[in-house]
Amino acid sequence: MAEKVKLFVNGQEVEVESGKNLIDAIGAIGIEIPHLCYHPALGADGNCRLCLVGIEDGRPPLVPACKTRVAEGMKVQLDTGKIKKIQQDIMEFELINHPIDCPVCDQAGECKLQDYYMRYDAQPSRMTVKQVLKSKKLDFGCGVVHDQERCVLCARCVRFTRLITKTGELGIVNRTDYARVEIFPGRPLNNRYALNVVDLCPVGAMTSQDFRFKQRVWFLTKSPSICHGCSKGCNIFIDHNREKYKDDIIYRFRPRHNEKVNGYFMCDDGRMTYKLENDNRLLGAMIDKRETGFNEAVEAVRRELSQAAKTVILVSPNASLEQMYALQQFAGTINAQVSGFSDGYIKNGDGDDFLIQDDKSANRATFHLLGIDDTRAGFDTAVAGADLLLSFDNDLSLSLPQTDLDQLLGQVKLITVGSRQNDFVTKASIKLPVASFSEDSGSIINCDGRLQRYDAAVIKNEPMPSMIAAINMLGGGIVSHQEAREGLQANVPKLKDIDLDQVPGDGIALTENEVAHVAA
Ligand code: SF4
Ligand code: SF4
Ligand code: FES
Repeated sequence: MAEKVKLFVNGQEVEVESGKNLIDAIGAIGIEIPHLCYHPALGADGNCRLCLVGIEDGRPPLVPACKTRVAEGMKVQLDTGKIKKIQQDIMEFELINHPIDCPVCDQAGECKLQDYYMRYDAQPSRMTVKQVLKSKKLDFGCGVVHDQERCVLCARCVRFTRLITKTGELGIVNRTDYARVEIFPGRPLNNRYALNVVDLCPVGAMTSQDFRFKQRVWFLTKSPSICHGCSKGCNIFIDHNREKYKDDIIYRFRPRHNEKVNGYFMCDDGRMTYKLENDNRLLGAMIDKRETGFNEAVEAVRRELSQAAKTVILVSPNASLEQMYALQQFAGTINAQVSGFSDGYIKNGDGDDFLIQDDKSANRATFHLLGIDDTRAGFDTAVAGADLLLSFDNDLSLSLPQTDLDQLLGQVKLITVGSRQNDFVTKASIKLPVASFSEDSGSIINCDGRLQRYDAAVIKNEPMPSMIAAINMLGGGIVSHQEAREGLQANVPKLKDIDLDQVPGDGIALTENEVAHVAA
């Protein structure tokens, strides 16, 4: 538990966490100090001066809150006439050359300049001189498009490339009205986290080529979730919208703060995996390339299962804890072998020492927790003599060489249950469509052993059954996520003390939990 200190804010006594600066400490109890250049991940730069506050202890009349740590008994003034005048002056100053093209700006609706103007200025412009014009659409590389006219020169983007990615592609050149953010000639952004500058930019000066002009942000529903792009499990917001006469569509993934997993950031590849949720979806059940009803296809699968001499269930390393448990129970009832073979999801050497992991699947750790074998040798043993392969969203074509795959498909009948079309699914004789992770709930364990929970974000016009519902229809016996969670808690020692319905927002470290359990 962090130590607390007592402060007086505008004469009112409050208790805040010690060791923090005034912006973060007071912000945590719901009192905002306006700021543009400060960001908790980038530290205080002190360049915007919007956070000036008064401290009654003999310091200079006004100090930047971003650079001032809280101290016991500190008396902080946020609303004197002088401070209000400074905030208004800074807003006027920032807006002298600002194009005010909010109607066509992606940031409108989540723009600090807009918000602060309305809150601290709200005066018409007094400027009669011509504005300084700058570039409106500079391709900075990595899908980042820069609008120099909108920039407030807070240097967050510049500091991101220096402090976080340590690639230093951005800098501020020139002075006064002509100062602007630039890349070095012929040296565009070249790092795998570049799109984070779009989130960091407090105004609409850094935009995403992918998202530009696609949606007004106030129409987007922002649902918390977990990225499934690799085993890090970065916390994200799924921003989605159901436009009139259309389906619920995802427009972007954005990082969601979790100090225990991804801080404030996510990688660009993971950010773009939102497209997998929208595109190339399996939208209907199929038997032998013929579209059919879901129930009819389920009956066909049940018939195949009853006639098969040996069935192998292939589990995806992206399946949730609940789904894997339900599949294990299902395998028990039909006497099938279970394999999680998915070597092709691992790209050795692709990871880095920040967020990106070699393993491009979200939940391989659960294989190990539940004792699901994911080795090639285990898979070969399982499929020896098998005549039916039931794949649950595991794209085996990533893991098996083509000749081995062809040989296997000559031996077994393939049935797939999944959310997406791919070359492997095309080869299946029966295909059952199910909800994708953004339309379902579940728990996953990341590469560091942190258990995290996500809930359904997107609700399609014609929702697919959840994978657990599909498994149950095939004869699995687990009827709901709730039942799977209760079963997991009762049968998996590591989860014994964890209420899977009450996983905290920042997750639970399973190893810590085990230690706590042993110590108790
Ligand atoms: S582009 Fe955005 S983040 Fe970068 S300095 Fe300008 S306002 Fe700040
Ligand atoms: S590091 Fe992994 S989990 Fe995080 S955003 Fe990238 S792909 Fe997603
Ligand atoms: S946030 Fe303190 S000076 Fe910019």
